[in-house]
Amino acid sequence: MANNAVSLEGVSLVFGGQDTEHVLAVDTIDLEIPQGEFVAIVGPSGCGKTTILNMLSGLIKPTEGSVKRHGKEVTEPSQDIGYMLARSALSPWRTARKNVELGLQFHGVGRTERRARALELLELLHLQDFANAFPSQLSQGMQQRVAIARTLAIDPDLWLMDEPFGALDAQTRLVVQGEFISLWEKSKESTVIFVTHDLEEAVLLADRVLVMTARPGRIKSDNVIDLPRPRVIDELRFDDSFKAAEHKIWKELRDEII
Ligand SMILES: Nc1ncnc2c1ncn2[C@@H]1O[C@H](COP(=O)(O)OP(=O)(O)OP(=O)(O)O)[C@@H](O)[C@H]1O
Ligand SMILES: [Mg+2]
Repeated sequence: MANNAVSLEGVSLVFGGQDTEHVLAVDTIDLEIPQGEFVAIVGPSGCGKTTILNMLSGLIKPTEGSVKRHGKEVTEPSQDIGYMLARSALSPWRTARKNVELGLQFHGVGRTERRARALELLELLHLQDFANAFPSQLSQGMQQRVAIARTLAIDPDLWLMDEPFGALDAQTRLVVQGEFISLWEKSKESTVIFVTHDLEEAVLLADRVLVMTARPGRIKSDNVIDLPRPRVIDELRFDDSFKAAEHKIWKELRDEII
């Protein structure tokens, strides 16, 4: 369907070439994601999750099949994508505010507006008192919040998140997850593809959880998470309906990782 935010049709990816061994990383994936959906991807290490995000971002091309956004083939990186990693590369010599401003600068937003918008976003992530701090003066959790603010600044149409909270301790993670999901739930306009090793996180946050097989990565199951929104995740995780959903998916995932 042309109006899908993201579609993969028969996508395979082989790494390697002349001197190195061929690795079939991703094997014949078909996937359609409507705009405004929050999709989590779980699967064993090396099953091709990051590779899928990299194809969607235009960083690498599939060996076979097509990767489309809004019905158009992805051919190069695009400015309306926000890509977040476990340890976001903030510029160490820029303050939190200047880091958030960076994206706005690329989009040609003027200085005064940039500054105001950055402060507003830092406030949303409860970092108003740290606008002038450098990344080295911030905890890992605070740095990831700056990274979220920086990504929000460009108002991405598509968020590609590769274990974005994976480097945080369990309690900080819960707080940052909660902040992120409530910001996203305010509009639910952007599409999110969220890779994680943490099944609890996947089920708490997502509308849909895709389980991948061990390499070569295929989609083993596509699970709709029918939990109401807005989600109060620090409570929801004790809820029976949540636990049942997590348990069902765990059975699928367990066979791939053990
Ligand atoms: N640039 C590359 N060159 C060669 N092989 C690669 C390259 N990048 C990834 N691979 C291989 O492709 C497979 C999938 O890698 P990928 O990084 O997508 O896995 P992943 O699911 O993100 O794993 P993890 O959960 O550990 O991050 C792996 O077997 C990996 O060895
Ligand atoms: Mg990865």
